[in-house]
Amino acid sequence: MIMTQHPIQIAPSLLSANFARLEDDVRRCEAGGAEILHVDVMDGHFVPNITIGPLVVEALRPVTKLVLDCHLMISHPDRYIGAFAAAGADWISVHVEATKHLHRTLSLVREHGKRVGAVLNPITPLSSVFDAAEYCDFILLMSVNPGFGGQKFITSFLRRASELREFLDKNGLERVEIEVDGGVVADNAEAIVRAGANILVSGSGVFRGNPSETIPALRKAAQRGQSLSV
Ligand code: DX5
Ligand code: ZN
Repeated sequence: MIMTQHPIQIAPSLLSANFARLEDDVRRCEAGGAEILHVDVMDGHFVPNITIGPLVVEALRPVTKLVLDCHLMISHPDRYIGAFAAAGADWISVHVEATKHLHRTLSLVREHGKRVGAVLNPITPLSSVFDAAEYCDFILLMSVNPGFGGQKFITSFLRRASELREFLDKNGLERVEIEVDGGVVADNAEAIVRAGANILVSGSGVFRGNPSETIPALRKAAQRGQSLSV
């Protein structure tokens, strides 16, 4: 059975936070035991929404020790990787659909000393990341069309994650982690982890309630996916 050996990590998406009280929401995520803060960067061009830039990452950096995971949903990511790195991002992920020269873009993130991820939209062929996987620390599979929080989980993610996990494990790339983003809630977390993902992004699922309760609930459900009993 394909199952991730990597520890479960919960990454609340700040897209669903209260932007007027961002520090308070960071504290609530810390209180809930999150390891990561997922920062959704949208440019109104690659996706039909505009959100956060390097300035907000810079403002967050001194406020928390949590990992800042910057998901770049932008065209021409190469132009901005330096700015996000300087602002204090720990992880930077780029969409394979947004760059013509994926190896160059991934290498640029690495040159800045950051953990690097490639991101695939829900029906971008998995094979488009196979040759790139060895240059990645993680691969982010979207389980919604990027652009907005609060959308419904696209279940083909489960088949795709299993296939990707199997590819990675068979090709000596066990170290590469799989992140899932979009529509993740406690109800589907077990199946998501069983499919091979271990980094769970959740926006509306975390902030709909109190993060000090929703994050542990999400983690508990996810951990059931790592137990051997089915
Ligand atoms: C969607 C973003 C997601 C989003 C997830 O474009 O990349 O990170 O915030 O939000 P939920 O969990 O509400 O689907
Ligand atoms: Zn995201």
